[in-house]
Amino acid sequence: MAKEDKVLIFDTTLRDGEQAPGASMNQREKLEVAMALERLGVDIIEAGFPVISKGDFDSVNSVAKLVKKAAVAGLTRSVIKDIDAAALALKPARHPRIHVFLATSKIHMEHKLRKSPDEIVQIAVDAVKYARKFAADVEFSPEDASRSDKDFLYRVLEAVIKAGATTVNIPDTVGYAMPEQYGRLILDIRNNVPNIGKAVISVHCHDDLGLAVANSLAAVKNGARQIECTINGIGERAGNTSLEEVVMAMRTRQDYFGVTTGIKTPEICRVSRLVSKHTGFVVAPNKAIVGGNAFRHESGIHQDGVLKEPTTYEIMTPESVGFTGLGLVLGKHSGRHALKARLKQLNIELNETELAQAFDRFKDLCDKKKEVFDEDLIAIVEDETQEVKDVWVLVSLVVTSGTAIKPRVEVVLKSGAKSFTKVATGDGPVDACYLAVDEITGLKGKLLNYGIQSVTEGKDAQGEVRVRVDFEGDDVTGVGASTDVIEASVKAYLNAVNKKCAATRVGAKKNNIDFGLQP
Ligand code: KIV
Ligand code: ZN
Repeated sequence: MAKEDKVLIFDTTLRDGEQAPGASMNQREKLEVAMALERLGVDIIEAGFPVISKGDFDSVNSVAKLVKKAAVAGLTRSVIKDIDAAALALKPARHPRIHVFLATSKIHMEHKLRKSPDEIVQIAVDAVKYARKFAADVEFSPEDASRSDKDFLYRVLEAVIKAGATTVNIPDTVGYAMPEQYGRLILDIRNNVPNIGKAVISVHCHDDLGLAVANSLAAVKNGARQIECTINGIGERAGNTSLEEVVMAMRTRQDYFGVTTGIKTPEICRVSRLVSKHTGFVVAPNKAIVGGNAFRHESGIHQDGVLKEPTTYEIMTPESVGFTGLGLVLGKHSGRHALKARLKQLNIELNETELAQAFDRFKDLCDKKKEVFDEDLIAIVEDETQEVKDVWVLVSLVVTSGTAIKPRVEVVLKSGAKSFTKVATGDGPVDACYLAVDEITGLKGKLLNYGIQSVTEGKDAQGEVRVRVDFEGDDVTGVGASTDVIEASVKAYLNAVNKKCAATRVGAKKNNIDFGLQP
């Protein structure tokens, strides 16, 4: 296949994705996602908007140091201080890309920027020329391109390519375009911008009308060779083009699109899970490619067909996206070696201490659950290998609740060698537990989001709880799993508490906990 038939995958989970309300990740989480994206094989990782905050600058800078193969991009407005910040943050990158944007639609130029079309062209050209002083790889995005006057758009694109832009990105910023119309726009750009052959045409679609993936694919069909997208489709408002969906559409319908990507598709589910964990955004069960039901067949006729010949109802294999399915893997007679071997097959490597902890949890789970599935193992491991040190650990929990009584809980937590007990009542058992935890830790958490999902099928399934908690202005996510959903809720909340403690080293001061001595 010719080189020009490769579609570059530009992942913006860490920039546009992270712009989604409530999706913010801390620096360590962003680095973990960047490493997973590199393993996935994306061509470009947009790591942030360096001028916007010190946190964003540091994240771009750290990702630039870490990533080896993919290009690392930093977003900038068409202003010198933004470009200077991006150039500095991207200095350690092996393949730096500066991504400059400026709106070109009449609405944006008149109301937001208050600039004339001539001024816009000049600002865009100056910004691209300035960015080229720092990087050979410069992308220009005419924001709101799909609502811009076409002739003006051609003029801007020709000018920025002449100024040195190596990629021109065509954003459907407000998710307004229709697939046929958007595809036509790409074709018209190819036919009307004289020097378009000197740049890669990229697309960047938002999902306000649920058309981001369809629009991106229509653009590819008309010659676009870079897609900007995010894991699980997260992003500003309704989100961006979902990476897993566009990639699998092009792979599954290679006969139709005739293009390839460099994505190692068996890594997809793993990255999806990681992003969901760090953002606290639960993936809907019916989500294409990565949803829990994406490869499950409920109808008897379908099950019968799949058993006889999988292609009767499966257009791609679960393995091709790393979907572990509901494989019954281990039981209560399985030993530590069997657990280690199965985890290895799931691409999970644990050190001896982590393995010992995971094995204890696995044995506990075998006592509570008849069947242990891959999903159970992943949930256990994620729970056990939270990257933060646990300042606070749940020792025990007693809950009294019912339709006619006020829920009452007794929570016992441990920190170092000390134990703390608190009895509390609340509107519900979870509320009561969280009040008790706040009382013990001295932190005031405001619950912003709470989601619970069953890890597998069955009444004895583990519940996985994801929370987003505001601790005096710090937005922190937490995750916890257990066959007891109240226990899972407390673990998720404590995970957020421990992240907050790790970040600020202020938690637990009420109880005079010495952080230097914590486990
Ligand atoms: O949606 C948009 O227009 C953007 C640009 C900055 C590329 O995110
Ligand atoms: Zn966007």
